[in-house]
Amino acid sequence: MTFKNGFLWGGATAANQYEGAWNIGGKGASISDHCTCGSQSSPKRITPVLEKGTLYPSWEATDFYHHFKEDIALAKEMGFHVFRMSINWSRIYPTGLETVPNEEGLKFYDNVFHELSKAGIEPLVTISHYEIPYALVEKYNGWYSREVINCYIRYCKTIFARYQDNVKYWLTFNEINSGTLPLGAVLSLGTVKGYCGPIADVPDEKQIRYQGLHHQFVASAKAVKIAHDKYPHFKIGNMSIFAAKYPSTCNPDDVLLCQKRMRDMNWFCSDIQVRGYYPCYAKRFFDENNIQIVKDSGDDKILRDGKVDFYTFSYYMSACESADPAIVEQAGGNIIGGIRNPYLKSSDWGWQIDPKGLRYSLNEIYDRYQIPLMVVENGLGAFDRLEEDGSIHDTYRIDYLRQHIRQMAEAVKDGVDLMGYTPWGWIDVVSASTGEMAKRYGFVYVNKYDDGTGDLDRLKKDSFFWYKNVIESNGENL
Ligand code: BG6
Repeated sequence: MTFKNGFLWGGATAANQYEGAWNIGGKGASISDHCTCGSQSSPKRITPVLEKGTLYPSWEATDFYHHFKEDIALAKEMGFHVFRMSINWSRIYPTGLETVPNEEGLKFYDNVFHELSKAGIEPLVTISHYEIPYALVEKYNGWYSREVINCYIRYCKTIFARYQDNVKYWLTFNEINSGTLPLGAVLSLGTVKGYCGPIADVPDEKQIRYQGLHHQFVASAKAVKIAHDKYPHFKIGNMSIFAAKYPSTCNPDDVLLCQKRMRDMNWFCSDIQVRGYYPCYAKRFFDENNIQIVKDSGDDKILRDGKVDFYTFSYYMSACESADPAIVEQAGGNIIGGIRNPYLKSSDWGWQIDPKGLRYSLNEIYDRYQIPLMVVENGLGAFDRLEEDGSIHDTYRIDYLRQHIRQMAEAVKDGVDLMGYTPWGWIDVVSASTGEMAKRYGFVYVNKYDDGTGDLDRLKKDSFFWYKNVIESNGENL
């Protein structure tokens, strides 16, 4: 058997894309609740003032809030061991500024965890997945302000204490390294106070983003320390986007550029969260980009004391890097940028599909850090066709996942310590990058459409039955 006993098979979601009930049960608005629906050709917008008549897809999403019992039963039927979800910060602290949490919000997750426990499924909880309370964006310009560290820690203390007997696995921030990209200013850092417009056109303010990231590193490390001191049974991980990058050619200029991009995008944040200090290459990067990080005197110690226990990442695509200005063909749609790889095909949204890149990434990450790894997102966003008889024949998705799991198995044989696998959007959810429902990842189809219509019915796709078999056979029957 390739995957170890106790390998955690499951699926991943996030509250802002799944839960809905955006203003029910005392919940406040989060950053995602201010984002409209877009598409591949027309980017979604963020609107500081909520517009009458505009559709905000997170408001209902696919309504886990009212369907959690049914959905957890479906996860159980597939044999899930682990269920990745996030807690909606603004359901617990509606503005992020309260000193007393919202009891109704806390009760909702009591019920979810109770249901998961009845089903024998372990929760894996992302503390912050693109869900900063919008009031903190307005008051503080999001994570740019150090004040937000205190708000986050208050929230962590509340959920750690409340769910200490229900949750063992926690992730401090979803895709923290999205903050190294201009887009990350919107959903991850919330440093878009007053900005109204397409999220793709958000100004590139590196000084603000990297200061915001520093505050997230400190917040993450503080949360880890609290957990280690008070709840020694907790395991706390980071979560990064890992987008494998290859030099376009063996020209040393391409190789050096590729190394730099790997550092800037893939390694920078996790080097800090796993090793507990800023990497050697950060100084030059900051100097060349006129970035001055304001640190408090205790910050370096906080980072050293708050190293994560395991490393998790999302993996969807890879790209090439070229130092040759004449090479202009971009890997269209790849949110990570880069040059198109002629050996790879792309998804309908232009994300380059690269299963072997997953094996490569797992090996690179494990070589660097030597702590357990988990793939907490992976999958194919695709158009699905609902047949008249209610079936959905998503062979393309099965094929994508099969190839990625095969490469994970190769990585395990290479010696990587892999804890588990939670493909993204195991049930259809709203797309983070475009806000669409049409971009579906699930094993379960949700009857919900981009114009907001649909009765939210749940239907099993062919991949549902395939994945059930994968789990049952611990990854042998692919
Ligand atoms: C990751 C995010 O970027 O990728 C998820 O953590 C997101 O929130 C997923 O949904 C897939 O991206 P998209 O844009 O296709 O939904």
